[in-house]
Amino acid sequence: MNKEVLSLIFLFQIYGQSFCQNGTRPNIVMVMSDAFDGRLTFDPGSKVVQLPYVKYLRELGTTFLNAYTNSPICCPSRAAMWSGQFVHLTQSWNNYKCLDANATTWMDLLEENGYVTKSMGKLDYTSGSHSVSNRVEAWTRDVQFLLRQEGRPVTQLVGNTSTVRIMRKDWENTDKAAQWIHQRAASSHKPFALYLGLNLPHPYKTESLGPPAGGSTFLTSPYWLKKVSSELITVPKWLPVDAMHPVDYYSTFTKNCSGVFTVEEIKNIRAFYYAMCAEADAMLGQVISALRETDLLNNTVVIFTG
Ligand SMILES: *[C@@H]1O[C@H](CO)[C@@H](O)[C@H](O)[C@H]1NC(C)=O
Ligand SMILES: *[C@@H]1O[C@H](CO)[C@@H](O)[C@H](O)[C@H]1NC(C)=O
Ligand SMILES: *[C@@H]1O[C@H](CO)[C@@H](O)[C@H](O)[C@H]1NC(C)=O
Ligand SMILES: *[C@@H]1O[C@H](CO)[C@@H](O)[C@H](O)[C@H]1NC(C)=O
Ligand SMILES: *[C@@H]1O[C@H](CO)[C@@H](O)[C@H](O)[C@H]1NC(C)=O
Repeated sequence: MNKEVLSLIFLFQIYGQSFCQNGTRPNIVMVMSDAFDGRLTFDPGSKVVQLPYVKYLRELGTTFLNAYTNSPICCPSRAAMWSGQFVHLTQSWNNYKCLDANATTWMDLLEENGYVTKSMGKLDYTSGSHSVSNRVEAWTRDVQFLLRQEGRPVTQLVGNTSTVRIMRKDWENTDKAAQWIHQRAASSHKPFALYLGLNLPHPYKTESLGPPAGGSTFLTSPYWLKKVSSELITVPKWLPVDAMHPVDYYSTFTKNCSGVFTVEEIKNIRAFYYAMCAEADAMLGQVISALRETDLLNNTVVIFTG
């Protein structure tokens, strides 16, 4: 069983004691972001970006510092999280093959045990928008001439100081999740489990580069950029390419970060990334608000992860 599922069960047990004294079971709401820097969630001193709802969970809840993914790749890690199985059991080694569609997930188990369940947004555990080339490239990482470079990371500023909704699809799913919580509150006393998968803060496709471009555009509005304290943004130490670990080299090259970047450029890209984290935090906030408005917050385990 993987660590996410273990920590979920662990949460269940701790909350179980306080929630379930009279036999009622807590609701479970899991908000999963994509590519959210964990350090922003567990470092209480981190003031580089305002994340009021992550902070709220940190202060009122528990931060699991030793929970880690079973695989550093999208679909295999999601397949492990949904099934509670290690990668050698799911046989999901790369983004080509994920979990069998008929596999039993933690949601299935909750449903069998009397929960009303709902999944929304990005799932990516039975298949991602990933291709056959993902299958081939997973095995040809050491072959220099086969490595394909994605677009060089760029930033794009849209809207103005009142433009809140940038990642429309995520917001639509967040709205649906909030509506669903309101419906649950009104309709029955069965416990529920809700999963909301967000794309943010994963960077956007660079449209001008066509379909295989990967995510290389960091896009936000002045509204979110204002949540970032740019003077606190640091620049990571970057080794010359020939001194890098092969895995770092692979990422650096394919993500097209092997060229020359100015300090300003790096800080700017980081600022946009943090702003995108702030937008994801606001989505988490909308879900928490829906629970609060319906008086369900004190009987719900809220999990935020990436
Ligand atoms: C259990 O406690 C909750 C909250 O206090 C209450 O709403 C519910 O009616 C109780 N259930 C039972 C079966 O006593
Ligand atoms: C799921 O389907 C696969 C074939 O697609 C099959 O080999 C496997 O036995 C099935 N698993 C279950 C639990 O039904
Ligand atoms: C990768 O970055 C270099 C500059 O560092 C640029 O010349 C090249 O066009 C980029 N590749 C893509 C696919 O954007
Ligand atoms: C921001 O943009 C929106 C939509 O284009 C516009 O309606 C609004 O007036 C603008 N607000 C400001 C403060 O410029
Ligand atoms: C949760 O909050 C509601 C509304 O404030 C209250 O009626 C209920 O008793 C609380 N339940 C628990 C388990 O504390």
